Amino acid sequence: MLSVNPFAILAETVSPVYMQSFVILMVLLIVIGTLLDIIHKKNVKYFFENAKKAKLSATKTLSTVEKISVVSKTIVSDIATTSELGAGKRRVAHLLGMYGTILFWIGSVIMIFCYTSSSSDTPSFWPIIWHVGAIMTVIGGGWFWFFLRVDVYSEAQPWYRIIKADLFVLALVASSLTGLIWSYLQTLNLNDRWDDKAFLILFIVSNLVLFGGVYWSKFAHMFYKPGAAIQKNLAEADGSRDNLPPEADAPKQFGLGMKRDEPKHY
Ligand code: HEM
Repeated sequence: MLSVNPFAILAETVSPVYMQSFVILMVLLIVIGTLLDIIHKKNVKYFFENAKKAKLSATKTLSTVEKISVVSKTIVSDIATTSELGAGKRRVAHLLGMYGTILFWIGSVIMIFCYTSSSSDTPSFWPIIWHVGAIMTVIGGGWFWFFLRVDVYSEAQPWYRIIKADLFVLALVASSLTGLIWSYLQTLNLNDRWDDKAFLILFIVSNLVLFGGVYWSKFAHMFYKPGAAIQKNLAEADGSRDNLPPEADAPKQFGLGMKRDEPKHY
């Protein structure tokens, strides 16, 4: 199953043009959802105004080389390894989900656009990338959902309590999980049975919810977070510190209260 291109099997009954149009529609939904989100929250406007204001209190003018160095370090640390999440299971779960999703999406695009015609032979590398990516996303997202989500981890809510903020993680896991099950059922050659078709429909619906829900979900954080990390590190390097006061030049004394409880309240 791992080395079989599920879209090539689907192409025996559904024209690749429909699959390719679906991918293009999903990309359009991301663009529209993110733009609407930006217009509604005015977050990007605030971000640039704030950055301009902070620049006035810069103590140093960064050269181009220094700027490139700050941006490169941010890409390697803050973005590629989501260092903001510290050195624990929260970060491992996020990395699994993030890289899993990236592999899953790249695998989908390559297989749908390059290997769905009847004359093409899919190199097993791509289906493996797709399936491994989906498994990583299900593990990372499931770990986050059942154990690490702030409602469950810090507020003692039951894992099955669902709120609007869960739309992103649930749709993300659902799209990978239904994709995996659909692919597995297809390789069983069930012919006229309904099983694989039912999971194909669930796979399509979960993708529509994931990409159609960008405006209401946390989807766009994957664009905002990198931008904010770059701005924060540039402001640190030019001394403006986003107009925050400098760190105190004194030992950290928070009293005994800090030691009574594990720091897990976010
Ligand atoms: C393909 C890219 C990405 C995917 C699929 C992804 C996925 C997720 C998911 C599923 C969540 C949980 C959302 C929730 O609270 O319900 C999350 C949270 C988060 N993400 Fe991402 N993410 C991506 C990119 C990034 C990037 C680039 C950064 C940082 C530069 C980032 C930083 C965070 C942070 C700080 C949280 C909060 C984590 C927590 O509450 O434990 N993510 N992400």
